[in-house]
Amino acid sequence: MTFTSNTDETQLILALSKGRIFEDTLPLLSAAGIEVLENPETSRKLILPTNDPGVRVLIVRASDVPTYVQYGAADFGVAGKDVLLEHGGEGLYQPIDLRIAECRMSVAVNAGFDYESAVRQGARLRVATKFVNTAREHFARKGVHVDLIKLYGSMELAPLVGLSDAIVDVVSTGGTLRANNLVEVEKIMDISSRLVVNQAALKLKRERLQPILDAFERASKAKG
Ligand code: ADP
Ligand code: PRP
Ligand code: MG
Repeated sequence: MTFTSNTDETQLILALSKGRIFEDTLPLLSAAGIEVLENPETSRKLILPTNDPGVRVLIVRASDVPTYVQYGAADFGVAGKDVLLEHGGEGLYQPIDLRIAECRMSVAVNAGFDYESAVRQGARLRVATKFVNTAREHFARKGVHVDLIKLYGSMELAPLVGLSDAIVDVVSTGGTLRANNLVEVEKIMDISSRLVVNQAALKLKRERLQPILDAFERASKAKG
């Protein structure tokens, strides 16, 4: 089922999360001639104006971006593949890999834990993660039995205090794992952020959306 709440064809609403996604989307917006007029790090406003009176930016939690776009409260948004896999992608058109917020989803364990032998011996593993769907699929594919423990952040803490044997989390430089004496034992997949568009908005607002999608596509390809 698709929805749209913003039926005014002249108005576009973009959902972004604060931090790396907002920062990395700014150059893409610039390429489309759009400048956000307030900084979400300093403003308490959740709806930010842009230099284009027909485009506004919603500031939402990263994992909520697909939901706002699915229900048409935002026409389009930017979300990590990790978040999209957990959401399921229902009602969303995903036309462009923006190649921003690049990282990987991996399994990590305490430095002293022999993951390979545990897997070989068919041990049942306790795995803490925010990404339960992705983790469930990964271990099912490997034929490893797991008890999943849902967390909302700071996954790296779980093996340190005996909450879990392993974690599934995103890794970029590996600095957070190293700082907590954890090791990456398996890469599950590469992750980057995607543009997501409400399927109804794509039809209703194509004329307004298409030039922005084209500019985003050109700018993300030019990134090399
Ligand atoms: P959250 O508050 O949900 O952690 P983030 O802004 O940290 O939101 O993450 C947004 C997206 O950026 C994630 O869904 C993921 O795709 C990507 N990401 C997360 N951590 C990193 C990282 N350390 N380096 C690069 N990309 C990352
Ligand atoms: C993310 C992720 C890891 C870390 C990995 O955390 O949850 O903890 O980055 O990056 P690294 O390999 O370069 O160390 P983030 O910085 O987004 O903090 P938060 O989600 O806990 O706010
Ligand atoms: Mg984060």
